[in-house]
Amino acid sequence: MKQCLVCDAAVETFLNLGRMPRGNGFLRPDQFASEFFFELSAGLCAGCGMVQVRNPVSPERMFHADYPFYTSTSARMSEHFRRLAGELRQWCRSASPFVVDIGSNDGTFLSPFAAAGIRHLGIEPAANVARAAVERGVRTLSQFMNETLAREVVAENGQADIVFSANVLSHIPDLHSVFAGIKLLLKPQGVLVFEDPYLADIVAKTAYDQIYDEHIYYFGAGAISRLLAQHGLELIDLIPQPVHGGSMRYWVGHRGAYPPAGSVAERLAREDELKLGRLETFERFRERVERSRQALRELLEKLKAQSKRVVGYAATAKSATVLNYCGLGPDLISCLYDKTPVKQGKYSPGAHLPVRPDREFANPYPDYALLFAWNHAEEIFAKEGAFREAGGRWIVFVPEVRILD
Ligand code: TYD
Ligand code: ZN
Repeated sequence: MKQCLVCDAAVETFLNLGRMPRGNGFLRPDQFASEFFFELSAGLCAGCGMVQVRNPVSPERMFHADYPFYTSTSARMSEHFRRLAGELRQWCRSASPFVVDIGSNDGTFLSPFAAAGIRHLGIEPAANVARAAVERGVRTLSQFMNETLAREVVAENGQADIVFSANVLSHIPDLHSVFAGIKLLLKPQGVLVFEDPYLADIVAKTAYDQIYDEHIYYFGAGAISRLLAQHGLELIDLIPQPVHGGSMRYWVGHRGAYPPAGSVAERLAREDELKLGRLETFERFRERVERSRQALRELLEKLKAQSKRVVGYAATAKSATVLNYCGLGPDLISCLYDKTPVKQGKYSPGAHLPVRPDREFANPYPDYALLFAWNHAEEIFAKEGAFREAGGRWIVFVPEVRILD
């Protein structure tokens, strides 16, 4: 049994997804032979309750100068971050406020601060997305966040009123270094606001596709509050978010700086009721994951036998887990359609499905489209309304495999 990445206690593996490529490892045919694979499994720490990947891939292998995820590809996510940026402006009341975004991607969250002339800094190791942020006027440092970097940022800029991070802290193996850095970065009355897919939603929706190389941790309020306590920080509020299939927004301050809202104790009690720290919860999750795989394979085999053309919609990182774990190849799903230019013309990791531009989805429409970006369903259904009108049917697999009416 291996040790926890956070506390050194033993971790119990509850799900083995098998041999996996990197979720964002879109590639060209000349790269097939040298493709990187690793064994993906997830476990629960008996000590600190952190759910985690057992065999994390090195950050340098994941967040490089050819990183294909751009936050701004989703209009709804852009709106989500714009709204939050507006809300957080009221925390910028000091003489010369300073806002830091850890994992700032293409600058979607920081750009309203930049436009308002507020001092800000994005920290983004993936050089290509960092460049996109700089091009839109967002001050960005292309480096990995850790305690050493936090010290340098403070020396150069002073402490921050707001530290923000969305869908990034759960990607960082050394959480102690990051939280020690955040402790240094925050002004005495500063706030850390971060959000990540929420463990209770992943379990409730059998969203096993959230498990891939970049998602090293699956956060819940219990494990997070224990980790924060080790760094002199504490939860002050918890606000569930509908994005990414169910996320949690954590508000954090220095210990004692703000009275915690009632939501914190309520959420911790709710997690106890849900048994989010108990192995049995995850063993049942595994059973549902295995049934989901069987149901999806059976449905796709049946459609193939009926000579139906099935495609995948959105070449998400999550799709790599589904395609590879369920063993779905081009015989069952002919291609993926996606709007990200750097993914188009490449092949999906592991399964090697061709990725085509989303504008070609209609010529001609397939019989069925398996929705891999189920977390963006509303946005995509609204945009692709003509597919259904033309007789096409959507297939979803979260929370269960089914063909939508
Ligand atoms: P997301 O669920 O954020 O991806 P991941 O699993 O990689 O974290 O979905 C982003 C992907 O979905 C990205 O490749 C772009 C694609 N996409 C479209 O192709 N069309 C759309 O309308 C939307 C919203 C996303
Ligand atoms: Zn632990």
